[in-house]
Amino acid sequence: MPKLKLITYGCQANDLDSERITGLLLREGYTFTDREEEADLILLNTCAIREKAEHKVYSRLGSFQALKRQRTGLKIGICGCVAQQEGQALLNRFPYLDFVVGPGQLTAIPPLLQAGVTRGLATARAAGYSYPVNAPVQRRSSIRAWVSIMEGCDRFCTFCVVPFTRGRERSRPSQDIIEEIRGLKRQGYREVTLLGQTVNSYGRKLTPPITFVELLRRIDQLVGDRMRIRFTSPHPSDVTHELATAIAELPSLCEQIHLPVQSGSDRILHRMKRGYDREEFLEKVALLRAKAPEIAITTDIIVGFPGETEEDFQTTLDLMQEVLFDGAFIFKYSPRSRTEAERMPDQLSEEVKGRWLEQALALLNRLSLERNRAYLGRTVEVLVNREDAKGDAIRHAGRTRQNKIVHFTGEGVEDGGVVAVAITEATPLYLQGELVCPQ
Ligand code: 5AD
Ligand code: SF4
Repeated sequence: MPKLKLITYGCQANDLDSERITGLLLREGYTFTDREEEADLILLNTCAIREKAEHKVYSRLGSFQALKRQRTGLKIGICGCVAQQEGQALLNRFPYLDFVVGPGQLTAIPPLLQAGVTRGLATARAAGYSYPVNAPVQRRSSIRAWVSIMEGCDRFCTFCVVPFTRGRERSRPSQDIIEEIRGLKRQGYREVTLLGQTVNSYGRKLTPPITFVELLRRIDQLVGDRMRIRFTSPHPSDVTHELATAIAELPSLCEQIHLPVQSGSDRILHRMKRGYDREEFLEKVALLRAKAPEIAITTDIIVGFPGETEEDFQTTLDLMQEVLFDGAFIFKYSPRSRTEAERMPDQLSEEVKGRWLEQALALLNRLSLERNRAYLGRTVEVLVNREDAKGDAIRHAGRTRQNKIVHFTGEGVEDGGVVAVAITEATPLYLQGELVCPQ
């Protein structure tokens, strides 16, 4: 049986795509290996969001050149966002590459392999919801599952490559989503994360249209308190009263939101074409906290956007303090080809971006520690999952409804169970505690 080595970079959408690729290739009789030396097929599922991610792909790909010479019959393919963005240029640049497949064309992989294609290209844009809805997804976890609800993005923020790589926004029919979650419930999954580039604009283009909150209500009716539901990522402009109420009221929906702000400066938000200003973002935060006081809010921040001044950057630090985020991903701005920001004249130096990144990370550390210390002495509900232990063999691990990672000690704990844990220590990245009652 042929062996596949699959290497995945990037976001959760890519993780899910890799689980789909795995499902498609299992059906073709492939088995899986961690060792590229024994693979018959090496696939890189790639990310183009920042330059660094793209460079990682090229250097990994470069390291396979010798292997390709040694192993006759070895096929090497690139899929994901770099495949979509670079297309034919990849085949030109890497003569030993066999095929390039965009994120909307995963089902092209088996036919390409069957036909023994070398130098193949499948990067045509998908018009509708393009994913192999009926292909079996081979999930890595038996506790937590990703479910795609929409694809692509129409917002064209000036820094972002996603509308070019994943195409225009399209929503998956709600019946298909419900059926997939029904199946996951039957299989005993305990948590589902709904995925999309701007999840809360879900359903606008469907006929008949349906709102994201209506979808959440239908899912809640199906799963009740048997499952935890999360979603990522929403866009701040589409955070509504109804959504805040749903987070507060629906038993399945977790008190957690990842709400990318990107910058605290109105001038920069405007140049980013984010569609909201600082005040509007703060209003959304206040609305969420008013309805669901337990909510944990995390964010994405970009430092060093073209034209950003010291004052703009300070305004971002200031916003971080005002909101008191539970966590954040902070990135140095990275120019991406085809985006508007790449063509802006006032690009900043690496030195400035690096300095600001360090300052922002230091502040984040203090703020998330402060947020996490608020849990000291409290008892929280933890969904046990070894995956959250990150290789730590001694302690148990899992997550709270707020998505906080908890490490804890205690007897009789099983993966997939829900337990009560008393929190005794807090760090910026996780909580620590002791089991209060068995599951
Ligand atoms: N440079 C730096 N960070 C970026 N992101 C998206 N595009 C860029 C870029 N060109 C960040 C944003 C987004 C997250 C997924 O990646 O913060 O929310
Ligand atoms: Fe990119 Fe903006 Fe769309 Fe998010 S909303 S995927 S940042 S273009």
